[in-house]
Amino acid sequence: MPKPIIFSGIQPTGRKHLGNYIGAIRQYVEGQERGEPAIFCIVDLHAISVPYDPVELRERVYDTAAILLAAGLDPERCILFRQSDVPEHSELTWLLSAVTAHGDLNRMHQFKEKVGKDRELASAALFYYPVLMAADVLAYRATEVPVGDDQRQHVELMREIARRFNARFGETLVVPELVIPEVGARIMDLQEPERKMSTTGGTEQGTVLVLDEPDLVRKKFGSAVTDSGREIVRSPEKPGIANLIDILAVARNTDQAQVEGEFDGSGYGDFKKAVAEAVVEYLAPVRERYAELRPDEAGLDRIFGLGAEKAQALAAPVLAVVRERMGYGAGSPK
Ligand code: TYM
Repeated sequence: MPKPIIFSGIQPTGRKHLGNYIGAIRQYVEGQERGEPAIFCIVDLHAISVPYDPVELRERVYDTAAILLAAGLDPERCILFRQSDVPEHSELTWLLSAVTAHGDLNRMHQFKEKVGKDRELASAALFYYPVLMAADVLAYRATEVPVGDDQRQHVELMREIARRFNARFGETLVVPELVIPEVGARIMDLQEPERKMSTTGGTEQGTVLVLDEPDLVRKKFGSAVTDSGREIVRSPEKPGIANLIDILAVARNTDQAQVEGEFDGSGYGDFKKAVAEAVVEYLAPVRERYAELRPDEAGLDRIFGLGAEKAQALAAPVLAVVRERMGYGAGSPK
């Protein structure tokens, strides 16, 4: 079996939360072992699709890189880079827009959620967001895309874009597979467990940040919304408890049945304390390594430089074929 080519992207913010960690970052670290290569990109071009501050953006890119490295990404074993350093992403976005249906972009849940009522004022970049995302992945002929459940529709669209490109211009791009974790693909807000955990759409108290101080983590879990029952079981009527079971199973590296068995007969208070302690322990090494890595911006720049070089070496030949197939330049088919 050939090894997978793994690609994933993450938005630059210092406010990465437990959902990002459990749903995605954990998979990136594991992906380094399997991917050849495993490519991870901090998507600073996506970040401008909503109002932003240029000085902050640069800072948040460093924050995110330091979080990923602290979580266990190793630049010797993966390619970690900044999206804007590899212009092939932007060029491919435009080229792929030729085989992207306007109607499909209009149907994207994330677009609808983010534009809200201000549809007329939303940036065109927000509308184009999924095309840039498709370009990110297709530029590397990636075979696997590890993400959380909320990216399912975006991955489905990039698969469709690849298929349409191939049908129109000949077999060129690889249709990538969605990879979502068995447990933790959708971590919910602790205060409103029917909504996903998110720094933009969720509640402050219900969102546990990777860099939160242990006492704050304890407080957030202590006030997590449960229900009026007593049973610690996963059921659709108990979204709060089900979410905590998932979180504990991942933090302790065990499974949900094991957690249900262990806490059978316990009260919610004790259960929430156990989840909080497990998460504090789970995130402590990441917080510590982050504090060491973040100040060294020159070191992070070196990692970005190397990563961009390796990424570009992979993306440029794919772009050359795409251009040629689309009728640009005088080259011959590869
Ligand atoms: P971003 O930065 O919003 O989120 C990063 C990853 O975290 C996952 N995630 C979650 N997983 C479980 N529970 C949650 N509550 C939760 N919230 C977020 C996301 O699914 C994601 O995997 N569009 C992407 C970035 C991107 C990308 C790409 C991803 C750009 N280009 C190419 C894959 C491939 C995003 O906004 O991620």
